[in-house]
Amino acid sequence: MRNVVILGKKFVPYINEDIIQEAICKSAEEINECYKDATVEDAPIFVSILNGAFMYTSDLMKKLTFPCELSFIKVSSYNGTESSGKVVEVIGMNRSIEGRDVILIDDIVDSGLTMMRLKEIFEKEKPRSIKIAVFMYKDQTCCKELKVDFPSIIMKDDAFIIGYGLDYNEIGRNLRDIYILEE
Ligand code: IMP
Ligand code: MG
Repeated sequence: MRNVVILGKKFVPYINEDIIQEAICKSAEEINECYKDATVEDAPIFVSILNGAFMYTSDLMKKLTFPCELSFIKVSSYNGTESSGKVVEVIGMNRSIEGRDVILIDDIVDSGLTMMRLKEIFEKEKPRSIKIAVFMYKDQTCCKELKVDFPSIIMKDDAFIIGYGLDYNEIGRNLRDIYILEE
């Protein structure tokens, strides 16, 4: 693994591909156990948040052994006037989730605010359950009210990372490993 420079910022190797794949296998086992009784008529619906979660979603889904559906959404967030600052709008969710088990998939939770808002929005549609699967969980910064059911990698450093779907200014998503910003 070599260093990566994007727009003058230097990113150094942090987590390699093998560790990533091992962590995803472990999460898949937990998810398989949780939904082992799912049937085709009652298949859980995974909702993957683009763009960041594309690579994680692909690797994770290949390891699932129960019948399930997959939808992709985008979220647009902008600064609103509400207290928490960010308003999140969901784009592309065009199927009903009423009465269904839903699993939201994202690349990373940092403050956790985006995911908390999304969960609120989805809860209004009356699913049977909502769980959260994320590739990277920033332990130091994520608000503790957010319950992340399936975090693949718990990150202890409070730092910016790229690779495996995660970008800096849209660059770096294609990298197979994770790199961390060198301050
Ligand atoms: P949150 O609302 O603070 O949890 O922010 C979540 C979103 O910020 C993620 O879905 C990412 O798009 C982005 N993000 C947070 N931390 C990082 C990082 O270290 N690298 C790349 N994107 C990040
Ligand atoms: Mg994102």
